[in-house]
Amino acid sequence: MAWLPPGEMPLVHAGQTLRLCLRQCLEVRPGEWFEVAVGCRNEFGLWKRDEFPFPAPVALELVLLSLRGELLAAPETRGSLLLTSSGKLEFSARMEAPAEPAMLCVRASDVDLIRPLVPVLSPPMGPGELPHPKRLTLEQCRLISVGASSLLCAECQGDLGIGGRLWDGGLVLLEYLATGKLERRRVLELGSGVGLVGLGCALLGAKVWLTDLEEVIPLLEFNIALNRARGLTLDVEAKAHEWGTDVAELPAVDLVVMADLVYDVEASKQLLASLVALAKAEVEFLMAFRPRNVEDPEFFRELSTHFEVQRLEERGVYGKTCYDLEILRLGARKGMAQAECAALQRDSAHASKS
Ligand SMILES: C[S@@+](CC[C@H](N)C(=O)[O-])C[C@H]1O[C@@H](n2cnc3c(N)ncnc32)[C@H](O)[C@@H]1O
Repeated sequence: MAWLPPGEMPLVHAGQTLRLCLRQCLEVRPGEWFEVAVGCRNEFGLWKRDEFPFPAPVALELVLLSLRGELLAAPETRGSLLLTSSGKLEFSARMEAPAEPAMLCVRASDVDLIRPLVPVLSPPMGPGELPHPKRLTLEQCRLISVGASSLLCAECQGDLGIGGRLWDGGLVLLEYLATGKLERRRVLELGSGVGLVGLGCALLGAKVWLTDLEEVIPLLEFNIALNRARGLTLDVEAKAHEWGTDVAELPAVDLVVMADLVYDVEASKQLLASLVALAKAEVEFLMAFRPRNVEDPEFFRELSTHFEVQRLEERGVYGKTCYDLEILRLGARKGMAQAECAALQRDSAHASKS
């Protein structure tokens, strides 16, 4: 492989998406004023005033959207809705209870910003609300356009940490996948997190299995149910798979997708074991990768002994705003011995126990 990722990146930099976030769960009391506290942050939930790229304060608006994303109302608001370089904003709002399941959305009112500012939505509320996943507090949602349609993903970072939020890699990979066709393909996603990439593959016509650690499965199942409740037909299910463990329970697929899974040296060894165990000539692997650690090249050196690694051309809007994200296509090298896979799995199972 000619290409090797660069070294450590700062945790806040201008190549990341900027996202609005709810700084506390919304407590909507119909007919009464309630507080809305938003922040502007990167994918880590971090903020640096110097990285605020907008020359003037950004005008925000609060709207009530149906589950399908249609505008139902603009609630009454009190206080300034201008987001300044402080990156934080508080205001009050008032509205009647929605007549159908709906979400409050805080978004930039000017769509021609010099850089996208990802909107934030409340978890769905109102009649016929989906049962929330047990032991998880849903904090906020992301509504992501996929072609003419869109997907909704609930986030719960407080309970699940990194698996409970959407990462830039997922946005970039889905953007890339949406430029192609996936009908009749069988897709496995590793480390799905909130599930956006795999749900997107299902929306594009594939049969999909989302996987992650056991504790993340209730969130994935909720996000599947949430998007089905929006009227989308999605052939998708969630299944626990911890990297480096047996892949015999996983279905046979022809495409494996993964976004932003290389960030921890030990976990990466286990990920590699799963990749090697899943590798077959007819299986294509697509990985969105953002360099994070000085050890990343080591992972890629090891990866390239098992796979041909090809860096794909940047496409789409996120290819422009997330300058350091790569999409890599991995193809299994011929003659990868079964004994080699078994040894890697054994090593990684041993490492995860010790
Ligand atoms: C940085 S997040 C990326 C999530 C998602 N792919 C995205 O782009 O939004 C890494 C994901 O890998 C999962 N993960 C971490 N270690 C894992 C392991 N040993 N086995 C399976 N999944 C793991 C986490 O739970 C998390 O969902």
